[in-house]
Amino acid sequence: MKQRMSGMKVAITGASAGIGRATAVMMAKCGADVAVIARNRKLLDEVAEEIRAEGRKAVVIEADVKDGEKMKQAVETAVNELGGLDVFYCNAGVYLRCPTPDLTMEQIREVMEVNYFGTLNCVYAVLPYFLEKKKGSIVATCSMDGKKGVPPDAAYVGSKFAMNGFFQVLRQEVKDQGIHVGIICPARVDTRMIENVDCPKITPKFSPDKVAEAVIKCVLKKKKEMLVPYFSCHLLTWGDSLSPTLGDWLVKINKLGGTDTAGKK
Ligand SMILES: NC(=O)c1ccc[n+]([C@@H]2O[C@H](COP(=O)([O-])OP(=O)(O)OC[C@H]3O[C@@H](n4cnc5c(N)ncnc54)[C@H](OP(=O)(O)O)[C@@H]3O)[C@@H](O)[C@H]2O)c1
Repeated sequence: MKQRMSGMKVAITGASAGIGRATAVMMAKCGADVAVIARNRKLLDEVAEEIRAEGRKAVVIEADVKDGEKMKQAVETAVNELGGLDVFYCNAGVYLRCPTPDLTMEQIREVMEVNYFGTLNCVYAVLPYFLEKKKGSIVATCSMDGKKGVPPDAAYVGSKFAMNGFFQVLRQEVKDQGIHVGIICPARVDTRMIENVDCPKITPKFSPDKVAEAVIKCVLKKKKEMLVPYFSCHLLTWGDSLSPTLGDWLVKINKLGGTDTAGKK
């Protein structure tokens, strides 16, 4: 793995925790310099220390993805401090677990504001730079919830389906201009985001390092889409494309929605 990303310059949103943090550190181990973007300065400083301990450059950028101007400044800072940018990983996101009848429009809008519009703020901040350079890689953490609706996640599922659709179109539009677009669709990952969700043994939570490995493979091999873990996710999408009844049944028998341990359901 060492030096597979030697000299590459990467910016990652949601890098203060979970998947983003694991990816930032693993990319540094692979030889990349990394700009870490999120709101929590203290956690970002910790990640930056881990990156520097690998002998790589780290830039800390405190920003909320909901703020489009801040994201433009974040890209500018990353480019100036790292001396360019090869990869932008749109990973920041929030999760909301709530049965559809109990959701409010405010809650749904807030999830869309971060997961969909926040991600688009990142895309529109970095795209002009990559278009001018005629190269670059934009990778986004979508979710298996953006491939198949799983209860009780309607607000989150809606935001991830929207993301998936947007990136599918972008991927086709900018391919001939030298820009790679990759979509990462993980199932349940062991991060603070779903710490209150118990998953059955048949579909356990897996380590954020597994997603980090997929992101690196996606960048290096210019993959269009990575489902993580491979087999169970492909089985679900395949079953669902054959018949929604089969897809719903697979969700039910595998208890893909998990169980809420905080009694919030
Ligand atoms: N965990 C799962 O099972 C799972 C499965 C599929 C997909 N995903 C997706 O993976 C991505 C990362 O999630 P995770 O599991 O690693 O969760 P996490 O541990 O809670 O990390 C979420 C990250 O997003 C950042 N963030 C949240 N809102 C933000 C905002 N408004 N502006 C900037 N940064 C923001 C957080 O940083 P600050 O709080 O410091 O801002 C944090 O670094 C998300 O897009 C999520 O939807 C997760």
